[in-house]
Amino acid sequence: MTLRITVIGTGYLGATHAACMAELGFEVLGLDIDPEKIATLAAGKIPMYEPGLAELLVKHVPGHPGSSGRLRFTTSYEEVADFGDVHFLCTNTPQKKGEFAADMSYVDAALDSLAPHLKRPTLVVGKSTVPVGSANRLAVRLAELAPVGAAAELAWNPEFLREGFAVGDTLHPDRLVVGVRSERAEALLREVYATPVAEGVPFVVTDFATAELVKAAANSFLATKISFINAMAEVCESAGADVVQLSKALSFDERIGGKFLNAGVGFGGGCLPKDIRAFMARAGELGADQALTFLREVDSINMRRRSRMVELAREQCGGGFLGRRVAVLGAAFKPNSDDIRDSPALNVAAQIQLQGAQVSVYDPKAMDNARKMFPGLTYADSPLEAAEGAHVVLHLTEWQEFRDLDPAVLGTVVAERRILDGRNILDDAKWRAAGWSYRAMGRPTVE
Ligand code: UDX
Repeated sequence: MTLRITVIGTGYLGATHAACMAELGFEVLGLDIDPEKIATLAAGKIPMYEPGLAELLVKHVPGHPGSSGRLRFTTSYEEVADFGDVHFLCTNTPQKKGEFAADMSYVDAALDSLAPHLKRPTLVVGKSTVPVGSANRLAVRLAELAPVGAAAELAWNPEFLREGFAVGDTLHPDRLVVGVRSERAEALLREVYATPVAEGVPFVVTDFATAELVKAAANSFLATKISFINAMAEVCESAGADVVQLSKALSFDERIGGKFLNAGVGFGGGCLPKDIRAFMARAGELGADQALTFLREVDSINMRRRSRMVELAREQCGGGFLGRRVAVLGAAFKPNSDDIRDSPALNVAAQIQLQGAQVSVYDPKAMDNARKMFPGLTYADSPLEAAEGAHVVLHLTEWQEFRDLDPAVLGTVVAERRILDGRNILDDAKWRAAGWSYRAMGRPTVE
């Protein structure tokens, strides 16, 4: 008989995981405490922008023509406990207010709500990004609370998906990491992931702490790579060198590689910034804070990029923002996402507005979220509308739509043809040929 899987917490991670588990052929029940979210998902819709996810829901939730009917949703923990052989915990772990540490309250609440209903042998699998040591603590709590006792086991299986590529990353991950304490737990997870493993995805079996740490280490490494190249951009600016050429030359060294080596306005989002901070906080609790002091520098290089962009924009506006109009292209923290959490684009836009400029923002997908979070900014319905009368245009999220812009057309509506490329990705020759002054981060000024 095929395994029955439940997914607890149907936010970004959980909704994707649930849909992908159904795609792999399992009967899936997703749970969320928010009935509105459940209703949206059950209707085959998603409350965020993620390519391919809505299509997968429609393919599997009942009531759509030709759907498999394998994916259902509920708000009842009792139903979930009765249904599932394997329960995935996918609740989020945001940064605590006013501190670096991760807020574990959603993961704790999910386990505390599920465990008292577990009356038959089961595997509870944590996927959330948690401080190392959490799995150990949760395993003790699970055994205490579950009526079935030790037959309700815990495993840890961190998630590495990227927004914008969530479905592909879940169905075809680079690797699967499972922290387990028994052969039974490992066997169950091998069954869950039989398809990707058969396709050659490495399956790495570890203890709890190592599994938790792989996630923290991976995100720290990625953040470090970005801040490294951004630090090089700072040096390039002072030395008159070109960070784009530097990065390309580095990328040919296979030990370094070219991915995550794009200099610009830096990283944002709901993961990298908060995860490196939570990792530092946890290392401090463990007495290993010295090992991670470099992450403080990674964080501050990253934040410095935003201030640098504001400074460059001020220069381009003739030394002050008062009475100046600034167009901001991009609001999402990265392209192919409507997520604006800790978005460098909106942070820069807000700083500039605060300093007296009139800022008009356009993003292909993140406008609704941006309006809710930053109601004080002005929003435009197109790049052209945003650029109307602008003294400088800032390119801060590298959507394809912005790469495809015709600088000659945009040039007809601006007050000054000045573009600042905060992602180092626009075709500078094309912009210059259309009479624009093109300036990027970490590259020499060519007039
Ligand atoms: C990240 C990790 O990649 C993923 O494995 C983990 O599970 C969650 O955190 P995500 O937050 O979706 O995923 O975004 P990612 O694609 O990693 O980009 C993070 C930020 O770094 C974005 O703001 C992006 O614009 C920026 N970035 C990325 C750069 O500034 N330069 C680069 O070279 C790459």
